[in-house]
Amino acid sequence: MLMRKLIVANWKSHKSPAEAMEWVQAAQHTFGHIPTDSITAVVAPAFPLLPTIADSIKTLNWKLAAQDVSPFSAGSYTGAVSAHNFSHLGVEYVLVGHSERRRYFSETPHVVSQKIDQAIENKLTPLVCIDESSLAAQAAVISSRAAGQCIVVYEPSEAIGTGNNASLEDVKKFRREAEQVFGSVPFLYGGSVDELNIGEYLLVTDGVLIGTASLDISQFIRVLEAALGKPPSGL
Ligand code: PGA
Repeated sequence: MLMRKLIVANWKSHKSPAEAMEWVQAAQHTFGHIPTDSITAVVAPAFPLLPTIADSIKTLNWKLAAQDVSPFSAGSYTGAVSAHNFSHLGVEYVLVGHSERRRYFSETPHVVSQKIDQAIENKLTPLVCIDESSLAAQAAVISSRAAGQCIVVYEPSEAIGTGNNASLEDVKKFRREAEQVFGSVPFLYGGSVDELNIGEYLLVTDGVLIGTASLDISQFIRVLEAALGKPPSGL
């Protein structure tokens, strides 16, 4: 179990460098002076934005995640981004196996396992996104040594970006199923999490992965305030 709840903002392929900086500066304005002992905020921008926001994220005491990593080490793999390529930026986490990667980029459980291995070899914590449709196939190819070093993110694809967030019962049930494969590793939920429902997910998980509600900083601040049990600041 994580002591602090992990709140991960997944920007996907949104934001220019200027928009990214504007977001981070607004976060600094609000959270530069609010102690956040019970949560750790993590931002997962597109690769080119990692250096843009790295220093500001550090001053906020937040963490950086990459949205993907090459299944191979550094080498002759044109177009790939290896963990070595961003090793100087203080990235601590990497999203692996997001359903959008599995669906639009044909990522197989085998490739996802290679990415998990790359992350672990490079001292990054893999945030492994998985749901009922991918759990068994992923279980078949992951080593138990690698599984025990992952953070599992339950991401039912029908809940992503739809407003159809999963029930707490589903989340608890999936957690038990995932534990058969990964052991009792930290467990997050993702899929239409917002400021209205984050509180209940944090009761049954170690954190959340947030897409849509992380894009606008005013909304993300409301989400974090809800996670901290604070009244909204009216931004
Ligand atoms: P959503 O996305 O919050 O927009 O549902 C979650 C995700 O894809 O990680």
